[in-house]
Amino acid sequence: MQTIHITGGRPLSGTLRPACAKNSVLPLLAASLLCRAPCAFTHVPRLSDVDTSLALLRAVGAGAMRQGTTVTTWPVPDCTLTGAVPPAQAGAMRSSVFYLAPLLCRCGTVRLPLPGGCRLGPRPVDIHLAGLTAMGAQVELSADAIRITRNGWLHGTDFTLRLPSVGATLTLLMAATQAAGDTVLRGAACEPEIVDMARFLQACGASVTGAGTPVITVRGGRELSGAVFAPVPDRIAAATYAAAAACAGGAVTVEHCPPALLDSFLVFLERSGCDIQRGRTRFTVTRQRRLQGGQELVTGGWPAFATDTAPLAAAVLLTAAGESTIRDTLFQSRFACAEGFAALGADTAVGEGGRCLTVRGVETLHGARLHAPDLRGGAALLLAALCAGGESLLYDAGHISRGYEDLPGDLHTLGALCR
Ligand code: EPU
Repeated sequence: MQTIHITGGRPLSGTLRPACAKNSVLPLLAASLLCRAPCAFTHVPRLSDVDTSLALLRAVGAGAMRQGTTVTTWPVPDCTLTGAVPPAQAGAMRSSVFYLAPLLCRCGTVRLPLPGGCRLGPRPVDIHLAGLTAMGAQVELSADAIRITRNGWLHGTDFTLRLPSVGATLTLLMAATQAAGDTVLRGAACEPEIVDMARFLQACGASVTGAGTPVITVRGGRELSGAVFAPVPDRIAAATYAAAAACAGGAVTVEHCPPALLDSFLVFLERSGCDIQRGRTRFTVTRQRRLQGGQELVTGGWPAFATDTAPLAAAVLLTAAGESTIRDTLFQSRFACAEGFAALGADTAVGEGGRCLTVRGVETLHGARLHAPDLRGGAALLLAALCAGGESLLYDAGHISRGYEDLPGDLHTLGALCR
């Protein structure tokens, strides 16, 4: 799926179910390295980052395989594991950073070539490293790799994150389960994926309290068993389906996904003029008339407006009446998709060094040749092309398959003309 052909202008109708969240299952696969019994994760989408994670697990000596939508990992003795992450897997995805803590705990030393992932601006890992250092690890940075060692076991600590990083909270949660004594993490991220990691670790026998709040306490030193675990549904995929209905018009139902997981996005769609019907584990988005802009969106940590949904919101606002702004407080280059929006005939401007997108809604968009700049920006261009008259070609669509198993196929089942 490197190029997607889209013929816009068809309203959507139907029902979709998101797979489990990429940003939950990727760190969970890394956490399974801590377990002394097999783990099985259900409803896992076929994504290139999941394939990369399975290859990484096997490359460091662990057991990992997929059977249908279930991914199983199984334990191996410490002596058969290596703490050297191969550059091919480290460079292919940002989530290779989640292997720092488990491999450090299991092998006593870990070497990670600098992690890859979407180019959203600088993505430092200083908080991951500061937290591990506070637990007694020694960190060495070189131009192309991170090396961490421990002498003896990590120890519990009282650590304040300088900002609520999702990735660093996950790293420190994993490490804290293996440290001697209690760890208190203050200023922790509160995203559903953090709660999911805590639920998984608890299912394996760890003692974790406070996940989902800024203060998390972990009682360390317990040996972890395995678990059969259903990770949380993908709230960003669910928001993408909701945004598709808002862009193309029609009615789309998302099932097996509590609407509370993406409330900030649904409230945005409601304010824009969509009708939202909420159930306990499903919701329907209906768009019948032209939407209203005039919105000022600011991204932030949970439960604020999610950074990953900022490009999707932009796609919705391209044809909404009035001027809107979207400011991303987390990443510097969220709006690389603006070039593609312009090619479709949209009126947008990137400001504040890349952090802010201004959208002045136009009446119509037209088909164009587009390039996906990154995962969510690529998805946003696909949605924008759905409401453009005529044909569009979206190149570099491999970025999209890092986060969605088959987004064109999903949209096709709703009646969109895309393949
Ligand atoms: N940050 C630091 N130092 C650190 C860690 C983070 O300065 O040590 C900064 C980052 O540069 C960024 C901010 O803190 O400005 C937030 O970063 P965070 O660590 O929360 O994000 P992440 O763990 O790198 C995950 C998701 C992202 C998602 C963000 C925010 C994964 C693999 N990635 O990234 O998802 O946008 O949380 O919710 O879990 C995506 O799915 O395409 C994606 C980019």
